[in-house]
Amino acid sequence: MTDNWEALREDCLHCRKCGLCETRHNVVFGVGPQNARVMLVGEGPGENEDLQGEPFVGRGGQLLDKYLAAVDLSRETNVYIANIVKCRPPKNRDPLPEEQDACIGWLRNQFALLRPKILVCLGRVAAIKLIKPDIKITREHGIFFEKGNVLMMATLHPAALLRNPNQKPAALEDFLKLRAKIDELGLDIAKSPAD
Ligand code: URA
Repeated sequence: MTDNWEALREDCLHCRKCGLCETRHNVVFGVGPQNARVMLVGEGPGENEDLQGEPFVGRGGQLLDKYLAAVDLSRETNVYIANIVKCRPPKNRDPLPEEQDACIGWLRNQFALLRPKILVCLGRVAAIKLIKPDIKITREHGIFFEKGNVLMMATLHPAALLRNPNQKPAALEDFLKLRAKIDELGLDIAKSPAD
């Protein structure tokens, strides 16, 4: 564990803890303000993310940004976004358990530095790893689970919403619940990058 964001990022960018380092173009460390009260965690970079070095920049990412904007949140102002694994699994397969285990220390260190009040898991892989192994996203999305001093919620993965647009209203509901929880807790959420 380090208590320094820059040292953490620098170490992470050179990581060779698992085989995914052989095929990556970029380590996708994470994005967002280092004082965000809300953290979002996806499963792992796809092709666009691997090429650009930033999480959720493809079509799914654009959809995610729309949901965030709908509830006055964004990666520029008040939400930190990262993934369970920082390097792209070939052909976008799910990250293997050993890859997740090799990588999770980086996320834990990010979490320790950020100390978010709310953590949202984007999709099954993150929800299983961070909330509970037997979570059923279809039934349990939008529900807050308290773990330690943190509220954790799972929502549908943006890529799943692109495949099944009929699930989009349910995802919007989840983001409305997130907003309601932020307001209920009275979290101090920045409105602009300068705040
Ligand atoms: N899917 C994810 O889970 N994470 C990303 O960063 C991009 C796509």
